[in-house]
Amino acid sequence: MDDIAVHDCTRCEELCASRSRIVNGVGATDAELLFVGEAPGAQEDAEGEPFVGRSGDVLTEALRDRGLARRDVRITNCVRCRPPENRDPTVEERENCREYLEAEIDAVDPAVVVTLGKVPSEHLLERSVAVTKEAGTLHDARIAGSTRRLLVCVHPAATLYDPSQRETFDDALDEALALVDDEGSDGQSRLGDF
Ligand code: URA
Repeated sequence: MDDIAVHDCTRCEELCASRSRIVNGVGATDAELLFVGEAPGAQEDAEGEPFVGRSGDVLTEALRDRGLARRDVRITNCVRCRPPENRDPTVEERENCREYLEAEIDAVDPAVVVTLGKVPSEHLLERSVAVTKEAGTLHDARIAGSTRRLLVCVHPAATLYDPSQRETFDDALDEALALVDDEGSDGQSRLGDF
């Protein structure tokens, strides 16, 4: 599984200059649920772990409320280096990092990929996405030559600046868990082992 951690990359000049370190995905390498965010923020850059800032707290607590720890799922980002001023990663930066994300998804082989917000949803569905409208919807996405189930979810940060998004976030998470539980009924789920 070492092959899914990136230890050295110089593909994006600006991100190489702005990052303190590369922030690789964390969690189970055989997770049923794989969450994809945008890019590391300041806290993630400092700690070397995705979703450990304020939006990470939202995600971590929502998982805990549903009986899951961070180590029970996989958590990663479209790009692994913090963009300056916390700007969105550019299309070019996302494309530079696509190979790493695809290799991670391929290796983990999750039952469901959950995209957190517009950037990862558009990146993996390769079309524009109205996240609030499409949150909780399930799609077939072609990722690294395989068809994957992808569930669109609002970004946890959205629940902080717009509390009315909380229900949409919670509903999408419940939907993701229900999909994994459904798989369990035919013996596929590993969530029951946690
Ligand atoms: N932290 C991350 O790791 N990713 C995001 O998209 C936001 C915060």
